[in-house]
Amino acid sequence: MRNFIYKNPTQLVFGKGEIARLSSLIPTEKKVLITFGGGSVKKNGVYEEVISALKDHHYIEFWGIEPNPTVETLRKAIEIGKENEVDFLLAVGGGSVLDGTKLIASALATPETEAWDIVLKGKAAKTLPYASVMTLPATGSEMNNGAVISRSETKEKYSFYSAYPQFSILDPQTTFSLPKNQLANGLADVYVHVIEQYLTTTGQSRIMDRWAEGILLTVLEIAPQIMQNSQDYDLMADFMLSATLALNDMIRMGVIEDWATHMIGHELTALHGISHGASLAIVLPGIMKILKEQKHNKLLQYAERVFGLKEGSENDRIDQAIQQTENFFHSIGLATTLSEAGIPETAISIIKERFNKAGVKYGEKANVTGDLAEQILTIQK
Ligand code: NZQ
Ligand code: ZN
Repeated sequence: MRNFIYKNPTQLVFGKGEIARLSSLIPTEKKVLITFGGGSVKKNGVYEEVISALKDHHYIEFWGIEPNPTVETLRKAIEIGKENEVDFLLAVGGGSVLDGTKLIASALATPETEAWDIVLKGKAAKTLPYASVMTLPATGSEMNNGAVISRSETKEKYSFYSAYPQFSILDPQTTFSLPKNQLANGLADVYVHVIEQYLTTTGQSRIMDRWAEGILLTVLEIAPQIMQNSQDYDLMADFMLSATLALNDMIRMGVIEDWATHMIGHELTALHGISHGASLAIVLPGIMKILKEQKHNKLLQYAERVFGLKEGSENDRIDQAIQQTENFFHSIGLATTLSEAGIPETAISIIKERFNKAGVKYGEKANVTGDLAEQILTIQK
């Protein structure tokens, strides 16, 4: 196991009716900027719950943070935040609203730095205190310090690090209104977050492996039931907590990580607008196939412990595990090839060029270059 430092300061507030706790979690002297997406929270009652909890607070609202939040939209919120001298932010919605809020909070704390420059730097020097009411289990953004921001002018999408949320409120009842495609995107995102931290090499940490496999098995168990019925509180509670635990630093202690699937997926989203989870369902099987030898031992462990595959040759078991992974994505309604998803093959050469030009080397062995990304996408075209 590698050396590591673990500190996650986010207070997690979980359960039915917990949104009401906002009234005491945010000090009344704060000037709060509440951020929202396109309006889902008005339809499912979350907006009323938030506003009634904050009736004695001083707050203003910013609406319109879009899926895959753009710096162009966020700059407007930053201006409003400056004009109103806000000193606390509350994101209410999915990962996009929260990620966007991480950038707003960072830009307000460092007014000398332009918002996009914070993203390009990869780390904010300072961030105003902020918190969230998370309504979509997927990103883990509610309990991590990462954020992914898009720039529509140039079709770019990059991540940066801010401070952690002070607290996040997760009431599984807020997820009852999620449409099927967002359930599928969320399930895929959670699954792939675990894979990015797990599917590297064996023998690093028994405890991290078991933890990761526990989340994978939970997602595989609940996914078909959730796709049938997303109104079951306990199912949605397990979904929400799986999402948080998959990306809150818990399962990455002392192990190497991959993240190449995400980096290629972000390019597909930036170029073609495909939603985040859906992009991962295309890239992950390609990574597993092209890096089969490099990941041989861990794929074998994955095959046995996650899919119970113990018979046949090692290569057969690995091939079956990759097929089962694709079957899982199909079973929740996601495409695993570019053509099925309506993405033109031209994306492959553009991504290859972008990666080669930037000289990137992703993955646990730092060998996923533009040329390898081309192979990964070509096998899934
Ligand atoms: O905008 P509204 O009207 O609120 O609707 C949203 C949006 O249209 C809707 N929605 C959210 N909660 C709902 C709901 N609809 C009905 N009922 C609810 N309870 O869902 C749509 C998608 O929302 P979005 O926030 O975009 O989805 P998600 O949470 O999957 O976030 C995706 C973004 O997060 C980034 C992705 O790259 C993408 O930009 N990621 C962030 C990460 C992080 N911060 O750690 C890690 C991830 O790997 C990911 O990259
Ligand atoms: Zn993700």
